[in-house]
Amino acid sequence: MKSNSHILFSLFFFSLTLSTTHVLSKVSNTSDSDSYILSCGSSSGGTDSDGRKWISDSKFAASSKNTAIATAQYQDPSLPSQVPYMSARIFKSEYTYKFSISPKKRLWIRLHFYPSTYSNLNSSDSYFSAVANGFTLLNNFSASITAKALTQAYIVKEFSLIPVQSGSLSITFTPSSKYAGSFAFVNGIEIIPMPDIFQPASLVGFSDQSVDVQNSSLQTMFRLNVGGQNIPATNDSGLTRIWYDDSPYIYGAAIGITSQADSNVSIQYSSDVPEYVAPINVYSTARSMGPNSEVNQNYNLTWVFQVDANFTYVVRFHFCEFQETKINQRVFDIFVNNQTAQPSADVIAWAGSSGVPVYKDYATYVSESGGDEQIWVALHPSVSLKPEFYDAILNGLEIFKVNDSSGNLAGQNPEPSAMLLQAEAEAVKSFSSSGSNGHVLVIGGVVAGGAAGFALVAAIGFIVYRKINAKETDSRTGNWLPLYGGSQTSTSKSTISGKSVGSSHLNTLAAGLCRHFSLSEIKQGTKNFDESQVIGVGGFGKVYKGIIDGATKVAIKRSNPSSEQGVNEFQTEIEMLSKLRHRHLVSLIGFCEENGEMILVYDYMANGTLREHLYKSNKTPISWKQRLEICIGAARGLHYLHTGSRYVIIHRDVKTTNILLDDTWVAKVSDFGLSKTGPDIHQTHVSTMVKGSFGYLDPEYFRRQQLTEKSDVYSFGVVLFEVLCARPPLNATLPKEQVSLADWALHCQRKGILEDIIDPHLKGKINSECLKKFAETAEKCLSDHGLYRPSMGDVLWNLEFALQLQENPDGAGRIAEEKANGAYAKHNDMLKIEEETAASEDTDDLNTNAAFSQLVNPSGR
Ligand SMILES: *[C@@H]1O[C@H](CO)[C@@H](O)[C@H](O)[C@H]1NC(C)=O
Ligand SMILES: *[C@@H]1O[C@H](CO)[C@@H](O)[C@H](O)[C@H]1NC(C)=O
Ligand SMILES: *[C@@H]1O[C@H](CO)[C@@H](O)[C@H](O)[C@H]1NC(C)=O
Ligand SMILES: *[C@@H]1O[C@H](CO)[C@@H](O)[C@H](O)[C@H]1NC(C)=O
Ligand SMILES: *[C@@H]1O[C@H](CO)[C@@H](O)[C@H](O)[C@H]1NC(C)=O
Ligand SMILES: *[C@@H]1O[C@H](CO)[C@@H](O)[C@H](O)[C@H]1NC(C)=O
Ligand SMILES: *[C@@H]1O[C@H](CO)[C@@H](O)[C@H](O)[C@H]1NC(C)=O
Ligand SMILES: *[C@@H]1O[C@H](CO)[C@@H](O)[C@H](O)[C@H]1NC(C)=O
Ligand SMILES: *[C@@H]1O[C@H](CO)[C@@H](O)[C@H](O)[C@H]1NC(C)=O
Ligand SMILES: *[C@@H]1O[C@H](CO)[C@@H](O)[C@H](O)[C@H]1NC(C)=O
Repeated sequence: MKSNSHILFSLFFFSLTLSTTHVLSKVSNTSDSDSYILSCGSSSGGTDSDGRKWISDSKFAASSKNTAIATAQYQDPSLPSQVPYMSARIFKSEYTYKFSISPKKRLWIRLHFYPSTYSNLNSSDSYFSAVANGFTLLNNFSASITAKALTQAYIVKEFSLIPVQSGSLSITFTPSSKYAGSFAFVNGIEIIPMPDIFQPASLVGFSDQSVDVQNSSLQTMFRLNVGGQNIPATNDSGLTRIWYDDSPYIYGAAIGITSQADSNVSIQYSSDVPEYVAPINVYSTARSMGPNSEVNQNYNLTWVFQVDANFTYVVRFHFCEFQETKINQRVFDIFVNNQTAQPSADVIAWAGSSGVPVYKDYATYVSESGGDEQIWVALHPSVSLKPEFYDAILNGLEIFKVNDSSGNLAGQNPEPSAMLLQAEAEAVKSFSSSGSNGHVLVIGGVVAGGAAGFALVAAIGFIVYRKINAKETDSRTGNWLPLYGGSQTSTSKSTISGKSVGSSHLNTLAAGLCRHFSLSEIKQGTKNFDESQVIGVGGFGKVYKGIIDGATKVAIKRSNPSSEQGVNEFQTEIEMLSKLRHRHLVSLIGFCEENGEMILVYDYMANGTLREHLYKSNKTPISWKQRLEICIGAARGLHYLHTGSRYVIIHRDVKTTNILLDDTWVAKVSDFGLSKTGPDIHQTHVSTMVKGSFGYLDPEYFRRQQLTEKSDVYSFGVVLFEVLCARPPLNATLPKEQVSLADWALHCQRKGILEDIIDPHLKGKINSECLKKFAETAEKCLSDHGLYRPSMGDVLWNLEFALQLQENPDGAGRIAEEKANGAYAKHNDMLKIEEETAASEDTDDLNTNAAFSQLVNPSGR
């Protein structure tokens, strides 16, 4: 209950000052008399981290001998809260829940599953079906396999059931008869009346046909706030839906640009599009193609989704124009699965004016195509109509699966990627044989600069371990990828059909999110690996600057043939990295595996490394505020690695050359040094691999050979002092006591003479409270024992706080006091919002940031 308080803090702020009644009434809407929010197998129910009340299901199941109640043996730290996941109702044979409901209303049914061990029942033995009023929701369903394939601790399935005429609803769970000892279980059931938000949708490619959506039940597959941040259920417009960030689904490097409506634009709902269709936050953020017509003409803004075969899907596009005001300014074509769903879409023409939301539904049938079933959604400017701007826009996207003619909605279990499983197994083996407790998992790499066997992997160097020890970790809502359906992020086959990939065994997830480049594309983009394009060199090989798709700048890492990285490590790396998408991590765009070449393609970071803006270059020194913002961004990236998924990912090579800056100075944590300029690059590069890393190495790691995320915190502490003092972490030319920056800065900090060693460019420019906070934070990071170091979440909060102190010393001071007095803990209790953490961090950072700024500085920024 210590870290990440800032996020919490901002939530409470919003609730109190902006919309207390709003938020609370939204929550209570869902608990009106017609709703059932059941914590199954729990005797008393409870409140979850969103403040929603769950009641026990005993009233509906107590009398039955077919069922038992049980508590999960282990609490995965990525569970958002104990309720409803820690208790389960177990069914050894068929069992039917019966509910009386108000007739003629469409219903949300949400089923929550946490595959764990329940009184000696291993959930990997559980296969079952679930049927609601004749609609098959699940069949041969294994929560355990599904969770594994999605690298999720828990599964939520959301369905929308057609209006029931009779006023009664039954949900039947049946253990599969195909497996001996099989059982069914469920942790939570939500049944919530909803307005009918569906209409007939025209079938793409068959202009005269439409799909009868109102008379069908649906399963939510994806729900995205395009160009915006995750929206938690409590902030939905009354229907407790979760909206996710769309960026993990964007295909390739062309991600367009995101924008947010100015505060002077108000979103005007109407009877055609009432607020419950989608919340304001969906319509007030958007992704568009970018300012350059030339570039836009040559690409499609594309999203790719994995779906189940043999179903019809309704794709709902949410639009709201807040930049253009006239017809024929922004006109574009919409493609669904490579077919034109809508030529010349003009949002203003549809809506009548800016600020007015509209949505459009298109249906498409997905047949079986070799286990690689996908829905492609693409936008392209309608060039032939000569609009004022060659551009396209999208604000939100939902994809629903429609029941088939036999009333079935169930797909197959996704197949966990064989590669990831194997990597896990091998890592566990190698770690337990090296004397560790076996909980730590290294994906394809050994530790320590230079000493490692896999040179490239050492440079990449993510270490991953499964969060098994719950004690040290905070509770969190660890969604690593948006989750609704069973198989949207992973399909039933782990090989890619088709010729180009050859021997590759890449998970289709990786292949879907991550583009496969041909060697000729790469050669063309790098002028056939011309030396003039080299921007960095490491033990693994060279990093080139390159161009793809005619205009997109990328960084291309070509593995040295003599490097010891094997094909498996290469593929594991792609698979890992393609799942790690975050504003503050350099993203992997694609790969090329051809002719024995192993090549990775990353975002290009126009402003190079953080280090080259601090010292040893002739660049203009960057301002203190900018340095703080960069540190905050990097801290967010690391915080996400540590908490954002089911796995703790230890970067283990945090240093100023691994913090890169894009063209807008957004800091991104990277794994490979990508220095940009200067003749000394080659040299620094190779040497920093060893020397630089040594200056950052956690002393505890040396002592105990135990690597934790606190090792990254230590290295980050060195980065903070480096940013403040603008000198290398190790400088052998200095007097002995000054050689190590960590030691010297700590010494000065404890003597109270830190001011003497800060960067001369910063002298007199740092607010003293801000400096104090910053230095204290860095000092704590450098604590000798990992236990006493703060988490990255704490570091982040303290840095944000330091920034506020710099910008608005008085306002921030008050908040600090309130926090110290526990005032904020009280507010927190009041709203019963438990710690809100990493997952939202994944994408909420802008919101959070804005919230925080407004908190301290009511005029916002
Ligand atoms: C559950 O069963 C699976 C597969 O048989 C096995 O790998 C796993 O270790 C078991 N889990 C427990 C806690 O016994
Ligand atoms: C489909 O739904 C509409 C409106 O809810 C209703 O009028 C119509 O009778 C339904 N059609 C069928 C075939 O059930
Ligand atoms: C919640 O919604 C309000 C407006 O409805 C918005 O201002 C706020 O940023 C949202 N909070 C989050 C965490 O999304
Ligand atoms: C939620 O409740 C409020 C007040 O009772 C009501 O006005 C609103 O329409 C409800 N929203 C939904 C989506 O049912
Ligand atoms: C909102 O304000 C911006 C400048 O702050 C202006 O460019 C834009 O046209 C305004 N939009 C509307 C709808 O008034
Ligand atoms: C899809 O339908 C085809 C043809 O009916 C069938 O052969 C195939 O097994 C089905 N696939 C799935 C995943 O149900
Ligand atoms: C759409 O086209 C792309 C290439 O242009 C192809 O890779 C993809 O498989 C196609 N998608 C579908 C669903 O046909
Ligand atoms: C955009 O997608 C459509 C449909 O798949 C395709 O026909 C077109 O060639 C694509 N355009 C570009 C520039 O990729
Ligand atoms: C969904 O199921 C209902 C009831 O069985 C049926 O009337 C409807 O046609 C089905 N929808 C589709 C698209 O087949
Ligand atoms: C049930 O699911 C398992 C795991 O996905 C699969 O291996 C098996 O073939 C399925 N059984 C049936 C009858 O579909």
